[in-house]
Amino acid sequence: MSEPTNDDDEKVKWLKEELGFHHAFNYKTNDVTEALKQAAPDGADVYFDNVGGELSSAVINSMREWGHISVCGSISGYNESNLPKATIIQPAAIFKQLRMEGFLYSRWHNRWEEGITQLTQWVREGKIKYRETVTEGFQNTPKAFAGMLQGGNLGKAVVKV
Ligand SMILES: NC(=O)c1ccc[n+]([C@@H]2O[C@H](COP(=O)([O-])OP(=O)(O)OC[C@H]3O[C@@H](n4cnc5c(N)ncnc54)[C@H](OP(=O)(O)O)[C@@H]3O)[C@@H](O)[C@H]2O)c1
Repeated sequence: MSEPTNDDDEKVKWLKEELGFHHAFNYKTNDVTEALKQAAPDGADVYFDNVGGELSSAVINSMREWGHISVCGSISGYNESNLPKATIIQPAAIFKQLRMEGFLYSRWHNRWEEGITQLTQWVREGKIKYRETVTEGFQNTPKAFAGMLQGGNLGKAVVKV
């Protein structure tokens, strides 16, 4: 469990030193295209998109031929009254023959218990490591949500009621 933090470099350190990622970078202080060029000079094969907007356009335009994109979320637009405009991705999709698919967790609703059981086992075995930023009190939910959008968390945002 973590206290709220605004130190994004601490998150990068955690990803590399504790979780064992070969590359990680602070998206607020780095040029995404440049950072990806350093980490994956031939382009990325897979992108799990939680973000949308310009960051995702930069990633998708940096992908390798035949790459796959799983679209899970678009958090960069959740606090905007108008959806953000971003660089088009169609040229990359066409010339690199990318495959993109959005999904909702409810598609696997019938496997919910199986998922919980398996994930719990992996957490117990140390195969999945996690951190949480816990906000106490249901009345503080808006504060927790705003903090999550402002980079105030390390790991999963949780509200304890
Ligand atoms: N498809 C589905 O069925 C499904 C189901 C549940 C959730 N989701 C999606 O999954 C994603 C994660 O949700 P969660 O509840 O698990 O959130 P979370 O882990 O509690 O935290 C979300 C993280 O998003 C990052 N973030 C916020 N604004 C950002 C921005 N503008 N650009 C880049 N990163 C940003 C923040 O990281 P930093 O602190 O580093 O900024 C934050 O820690 C969301 O997009 C959500 O909508 C999808």
